[in-house]
Amino acid sequence: MNHYLPVTLEHASRLVNHGPTVWVTSADGARRNVMAAAWSMPVEFTPPRIAVVIDKNTHTRELVMASGAFAICLPGATLVDLTYAIGNTSGRTVDKFAHYGIDAGRGPVLGMPVPQAGCAAWLECRLIREPHAEDAYDTCFGEVVAAAADARIFAGGHWRFSEHNADLQTIHHLGGGNFVRAGGVLKARTA
Ligand SMILES: Cc1cc2nc3c(=O)[nH]c(=O)nc-3n(C[C@H](O)[C@H](O)[C@H](O)COP(=O)(O)O)c2cc1C
Repeated sequence: MNHYLPVTLEHASRLVNHGPTVWVTSADGARRNVMAAAWSMPVEFTPPRIAVVIDKNTHTRELVMASGAFAICLPGATLVDLTYAIGNTSGRTVDKFAHYGIDAGRGPVLGMPVPQAGCAAWLECRLIREPHAEDAYDTCFGEVVAAAADARIFAGGHWRFSEHNADLQTIHHLGGGNFVRAGGVLKARTA
């Protein structure tokens, strides 16, 4: 059963506000790919825009530049091994979706690969061309044009971390294959 529900674009930045390690998915014609990325962040609320570092030597970069689009997907904690694996293999030599058995559909606006299960959320993004940032810093910008989240962990425009959805909680790379899972929610007191 697919638990993904659309997230309104006004709430899209909240999906990546807490700095999760993500998958960057890409496609160009029959070619498709997925890589891990620890370095991404929102840069604008309205319209929602994000930045992600995609090294110029990756196969992903080639596909993103060819198609002008990508998707950001947020793997849940059960996908930690898979996330590390797709971050240590290149799509130039293997179709990682087939090789690792990743069940992906197509995003509604740009047709980017989006997961059918296991990820907390995904965002489809249209590439915003910034040649200097791309060349000098491998930083690619995208405007979010569609987003969805698993309703068991993100609902009503907010994350709902609880003991019941630990498997879906986002992961954050500490380095060297070590990750921490999100979930210890602290509520700031207001004066
Ligand atoms: C946990 C993790 C985080 C990573 N973060 C990034 C990142 O933010 N940017 C990047 O360019 N590469 C990052 N990488 C490396 C890419 O995922 C890796 O180069 C991948 O093999 C590229 O795949 P591709 O050639 O199929 O596109 C990361 C790898 C891991 C394991």
